[in-house]
Amino acid sequence: MAELVIKNSHLVLPEGVVDAGLVIGAGKIKDIVKDSALPEADTVVDAGGKYILPGMIDVHVHMREPGAVSKEGWVTGSKAAVAGGVTTLFDMPNTQPPTTSIEELARKRENVKGKSLVDYGFHFAATPDNQEELKKLFGGIASVKFYTCSTVGSLLIDNDAVIFEDFRILGEKQLISTVHAENQVMIDYWMNALKESGEDVSPLTYAKARGNICASESLNSLIYLSKSAGNKLHVAHISTLEEVNLVRKFKDPQLTAEVSPHHLFLSLDDVGRLGSYSRVNPPLRSEVDNGALWEGLFDGTIDMIASDHAPHLRESKEGDVFTASAGFPELETTLPLLLNETHKSRLTLELIAKITAENPARVFRVKNKGRIEKGFDADLVIVDLDREKVVREEELFTKCGWSPYAGRTLKGWPVKTFVGGNLVFDEGIIYEEKKGREVNYY
Ligand code: DOR
Ligand code: ZN
Repeated sequence: MAELVIKNSHLVLPEGVVDAGLVIGAGKIKDIVKDSALPEADTVVDAGGKYILPGMIDVHVHMREPGAVSKEGWVTGSKAAVAGGVTTLFDMPNTQPPTTSIEELARKRENVKGKSLVDYGFHFAATPDNQEELKKLFGGIASVKFYTCSTVGSLLIDNDAVIFEDFRILGEKQLISTVHAENQVMIDYWMNALKESGEDVSPLTYAKARGNICASESLNSLIYLSKSAGNKLHVAHISTLEEVNLVRKFKDPQLTAEVSPHHLFLSLDDVGRLGSYSRVNPPLRSEVDNGALWEGLFDGTIDMIASDHAPHLRESKEGDVFTASAGFPELETTLPLLLNETHKSRLTLELIAKITAENPARVFRVKNKGRIEKGFDADLVIVDLDREKVVREEELFTKCGWSPYAGRTLKGWPVKTFVGGNLVFDEGIIYEEKKGREVNYY
């Protein structure tokens, strides 16, 4: 007798959608067979003719623990994850203290135990003086993050010689270098000019001042350093047309990129409405940039979508745009935003599975995840493509309790999420008994 079977479903497999059922045991997909061939099982879930996608692997999440659990933490953040169909996430290193030493990584690992409902991994961070720590790394992490601008957490690394040496060290170890590419000198120059102008700076003026060139100039330099050093470079939150063109030009297996939902689904046109809440690094861009990013997703220049879930409380998003915290909470809305696009024929479910699960697993070399396949982890999300629902802040699980997409009607929502064969989210109810584990990399 099987532990669990899921019947009456359309499975989104890499080769296309098939009508079949799943046999699940010991946390893994044991078999994919026609419903008529499904064995008896302890538990039978009827998917009601809905689609099943591989659980989303979100490679860019700020869980805020340790240091800012008032904004988010593993308990609330992983609830938001499962509600959004996310079954694996990678935590960013700009916590307090930041993840810049082997000791701190070990503390983070210890701290998450018993808290996360999803499987997880950690990004490490490079600083101007932690090369010795980088030398001690041997796998077991998602990547090493380089912040070329001072953003939340201030992990600025702006010396190209250090970056180049670090890239070489990481390249030899086959470890990925993830970059937040924005040139701090350029940002400072235009921000200072704005402050000194004495004008009453609007959020729109602010966003435009931190222009495309800040990101593309930085990425151009980082790609050059990476190609010279021979490491794997992953570009976080690519946001401009110019960066898409750069990545397209130099694209090879050593150069990968992610886009955040806000750079696809929000633009400078939303800044007036969002006010100081619109602040995010890199900033919202024009509709021309939005279009180039979509093109980049379609032609494979951009490998994946990653939420960049960056929760901040309302009080720190209010007020002066120069001092408002940068970032949006996005774990719960990324998959619904994408599913909504299937009704406009912009995205297929196969492409969604590719950019939310298959490619993140391939790029970050996550073992046994990213596809609905025999022997893979039973990380699954049943989605209802016909469910139409308004994004309501009071229904969100994220501790920060707001969303830049509030009020937007989206058609297509996760209804059940399984992590390692355990049902953890079911129609708004969260089951907290079973906890996630750290992923393995191959
Ligand atoms: O907007 C942002 N928020 N950009 C970053 O680089 C960091 C992030 C955060 O941690 O809040
Ligand atoms: Zn981020």
